[in-house]
Formats: sequence, structure tokens, C-alpha cells
Amino acid sequence: MTNIAKSENTDMNMSSGPFVDVANTPKQQRAPKARVTAQNVNVFYGQKQALFDVCVDVPDRSVIAFIGPSGCGKSTFLRCLNRMNDTIEGCRVEGDIKLDGQDVYDPKIDVVELRARVGMVFQKPNPFPKSIFENVAYGPKIHGLATNKTELEEIVVTSLRKASLFEEVKDRLHEPGTGLSGGQQQRLCIARAIAVSPEVILMDEPCSALDPIATAKIEELIDELRANYTIAIVTHSMQQAARVSQRTAFFHLGLLVEEGPTETIFTAPNDKRTQDYVTGRFG
Ligand SMILES: Nc1ncnc2c1ncn2[C@@H]1O[C@H](COP(=O)(O)OP(=O)(O)O)[C@@H](O)[C@H]1O
Ligand SMILES: [Mg+2]
Repeated sequence: MTNIAKSENTDMNMSSGPFVDVANTPKQQRAPKARVTAQNVNVFYGQKQALFDVCVDVPDRSVIAFIGPSGCGKSTFLRCLNRMNDTIEGCRVEGDIKLDGQDVYDPKIDVVELRARVGMVFQKPNPFPKSIFENVAYGPKIHGLATNKTELEEIVVTSLRKASLFEEVKDRLHEPGTGLSGGQQQRLCIARAIAVSPEVILMDEPCSALDPIATAKIEELIDELRANYTIAIVTHSMQQAARVSQRTAFFHLGLLVEEGPTETIFTAPNDKRTQDYVTGRFG
């Protein structure tokens, strides 16, 4: 049996259950498990192409940062992953994007369910004009995740705890979410995403409207969340990317120039464009 046949065999075994022969697969060949895979993604706004053949894997339970100058396509790419681009008139996405091996653009996919599995946190905190409690309870209610009031309360409290917000709001759960500070509102939005048990959380410059203290809290939270969630974050701050991510992808003019371990991207990138960007020569 050739090596190739052997590894194919192992792959088949892995998908078919109990006969996994991991011992036969050399360790260095096993890439970190990808939660999301994107292959040859092209995105157009009308006639204008915004992304060109983007290929990247988002590894399980870790943080990947998307960096690059304004307008290079970071948000566009992030929105491909949970089909938020569907909501933009004239936007067309081509290519292959899979979540746990399942085609995200399969017409049979329920987009509402997809967006629960792949949650999103935006630049400006956008709580619903409802109470803190209702902001978090809304998703579990529409997805039928709780069978009674006690279960719903449990989900709300757990989600607020996971978002490091519960202690600050426990005495005013029925006050409006919009009455919180910016940083608290952003953590409320994270709690809202968490409440529907997502696998992946997308964050598009989640700290850009926040002061440094609120930013530090969110970064700390992201670091805690990666134990249980797969996170992709767009940031214009290279310091932030360096602080929170394990892998970094650098975009430039609609191309994914380079992707790799965060430390490598910042200290020893392969491409001159990455080098110029991370050393502050443009951007
Ligand atoms: N809704 C839209 N309609 C038309 N063009 C858009 C739209 N959103 C983004 N673009 C264009 O796509 C390119 C990438 O934008 P974007 O993904 O927002 O970049 P980034 O997040 O890196 O700043 C830019 O040239 C931008 O002008
Ligand atoms: Mg953007």
C-alpha cells in the first residue's frame, strides 16, 4: 500500500466511526481541525470585484484575526461566512465555504439557523430596544431552545456570565439594554450571540467604538471564549490582532496575501506586502 492510499484510508476511517487509526498518521501531517473552510472565494458588488480567490481555514477553538488596510475586503470576507452578504443588494459570492464540511451556500440551508451557528458581533454595539434580559432571551425563544421559563432564565444568566457581564447587570435585568455603557452593550451583544449556542463567532472591529478599558475587557473575554468557540475577528489594530489571535490573515486589495501563526505574520512574514503593512509602511 502506498503512503497516499494509506492516508486516504485513514481519512475514510475517520469519517466512518470507530476504526480511527490515528497512530498510523504521522503527527505533523495532522493539521489543526478546521471549523470553517473557504476555497476560491470571489465576491462582487455589482460589476466591482471585492475579493479574489480567497482561501483560508478557520481552525477550531481558536482566534483568527483578519487584518489589512481599510477597504481591502475584511468585512466582506467575514460576512461570507454566515451569509450576511445575502442581505446586501447587488452582492454576489462565488466559491466554496464549508462549516463542519457542510456547504454554507447550499440552497437547502436554513440561513436563520446558519446565523445562529455562526454568530456575529458588529462594530457598533447594536442591542435591541428591549430589556437586557430580552436581548439575550430573544434568540433562544425564536430557536425554541428553552421549554419553560426556568430554562430560559438559565440560558440568559449563563450567557451573561460567559460574556463577563452578569455581575454588572444582575440587579437590572429588566432595564433597557441601550442604557448600558458602550463596552457593556458590546458584551451584551456577545451574550446574545452566545445564547443560541453558536459554533463560530464573527466579530467585525468589535472594539472600534470603545475606550481602552472597555477594549481590554472585550479582549480578555475573547481570550476566555476561545476555549469553547471558534472566533474570527476583523481588526484594524495590529496590536489587538497580536494580543488576541493565534492565527492572522493579511488582506490587501481584495487578496488574502498571507495567513499563518500570528507571531510569524508579525515577526517573519513571507510576503513583502505583509512586511510593509505590519511595520507600518502603509495602511
Ligand atoms: N455594500 C457595498 N456596496 C458596494 N461596495 C462595497 C460594499 N461594501 C463594501 N464595498 C467595497 O468592497 C471593498 C471591500 O470593503 P470592505 O469589505 O468593507 O473592506 P474592509 O472591511 O477591509 O475595510 C471596498 O472597495 C468597498 O468599497
Ligand atoms: Mg470593515
